[in-house]
Amino acid sequence: MADTKHTRTATLSFGDRRLDLPMMSPTLGPDVIDIRRLYAEGGVFTFDPGFTSTASCESTITYIDGDAGELLYRGYPIEQLAEKSHFLEVCYLLLYGELPTAAQMEDFENRVTRHTMLHEQIQYFFRGFRRDAHPMATMVGVVGALSAFYHDSTDINDPWQREVAAIRLIAKVPTIAAWAFKYSVGQPFVYPRNALDYAGNFLHMCFAVPAEEYVVDPILSRAMDRIMMLHADHEQNASTSTVRLAGSSGANPFACIAAGIACLWGPAHGGANQAALEQLREIGTVDRIPEFIRKAKDKSSGVRLMGFGHRVYKNYDPRAKVMKESADEVLELLGIHNNPTLQVAKELERIALEDDYFVTKKLYPNVDFYSGIILEAMGFPTSMFTPIFAISRTVGWISQWKEMIADPTQKIGRPRQLYVGATRRDYVDLHHR
Ligand code: ACO
Repeated sequence: MADTKHTRTATLSFGDRRLDLPMMSPTLGPDVIDIRRLYAEGGVFTFDPGFTSTASCESTITYIDGDAGELLYRGYPIEQLAEKSHFLEVCYLLLYGELPTAAQMEDFENRVTRHTMLHEQIQYFFRGFRRDAHPMATMVGVVGALSAFYHDSTDINDPWQREVAAIRLIAKVPTIAAWAFKYSVGQPFVYPRNALDYAGNFLHMCFAVPAEEYVVDPILSRAMDRIMMLHADHEQNASTSTVRLAGSSGANPFACIAAGIACLWGPAHGGANQAALEQLREIGTVDRIPEFIRKAKDKSSGVRLMGFGHRVYKNYDPRAKVMKESADEVLELLGIHNNPTLQVAKELERIALEDDYFVTKKLYPNVDFYSGIILEAMGFPTSMFTPIFAISRTVGWISQWKEMIADPTQKIGRPRQLYVGATRRDYVDLHHR
């Protein structure tokens, strides 16, 4: 357990003030200076745009060692889970803290499977969108709208309702993403099939049509399941912090997850998988890599190597390793040999990892560098990459949201600021300006 007894202190001196601030020790990671009393006792704030040095909460869910390139879900290394586990088991682990017994797993699978359908009225909600809407735009709207359909799971003070909302979100988000896709390509919505596993059901809802039988390939469904496991949680990243911040005001879980989806959409976060594949396609051939690398190193060009770099990982992202292996497997299965995008990706990675700019800044491939190649090979358009990330991350968001609600130290999230605007001045009438 973390040392919360505050037996050690850090001393901060400024001007003629001297403050002893309690220190806390985590089970893993650097010690933390508890500055909660800083303003009350010292009359100063801290300044930390982007929260690069600030722990916003206590959490027991996910741990990242960015220097070692390690990712643990509830203590279990991601590589072991990606090899031996499956997405719904990982969901159970993230939500409840332990791997399930066989009976617990069966019960959990049943509960999720029986919540995959959407209220029939939600179809009309979809039909209000333009066909060319980005599926993430549709998802933000429809997930937010779930609170208008499932009133009996919006009371955040009732643990049972929180549990039902968690299951509903994990179960329904794939249906919403698949229907956003179907709507955008003008095909009929395909209802969930309870006989299929979570990833297989999602592929079926995306690629089946009423006119003929669609059999889910188990290797593709395993690859999709693995993509989902790799993206399931990632401690206090931007979208998770957004979910926690939205939830800190007491907002209902559907609204909070919609806020997380909105944040995930940005190209610096979940939108990077779409941007990475588009960039690889734009480079097109291996001979154009040096010219592109030059641009990525030149700040004035505004170009960044998408799928590279990470706020926390200063080493190879462990998820990228698994994803690279998966890309090889899926392309082999689909009989796609010498895929030019994969060739560009591998050569780009090789060159970047030898280049002084990327080496000194510790920029390595992140999870998004290879995921797009797999998803494209499966038949998804780039616009579906981030929705698939959103499906996978829903369990992480909801686990973190549940942890926050149950935390007695939780307060509404309300950062302070370093105000650098005009000092007080008097209003001037329009004709005197
Ligand atoms: N290409 C070129 N240069 C880069 C890149 C990149 N992909 N990433 C960072 N740098 C450079 C920056 O220009 C900066 O240089 P400087 O120190 O000379 O000013 C330095 O490396 C540090 O970069 P920051 O942006 O300060 O690092 P930060 O931790 O804020 O950003 C981020 C991390 C947003 C992921 C960044 O690396 C990036 O934009 N990567 C590309 C987008 C991407 O792949 N995002 C997915 C992240 S993973 C995920 O969300 C699942």
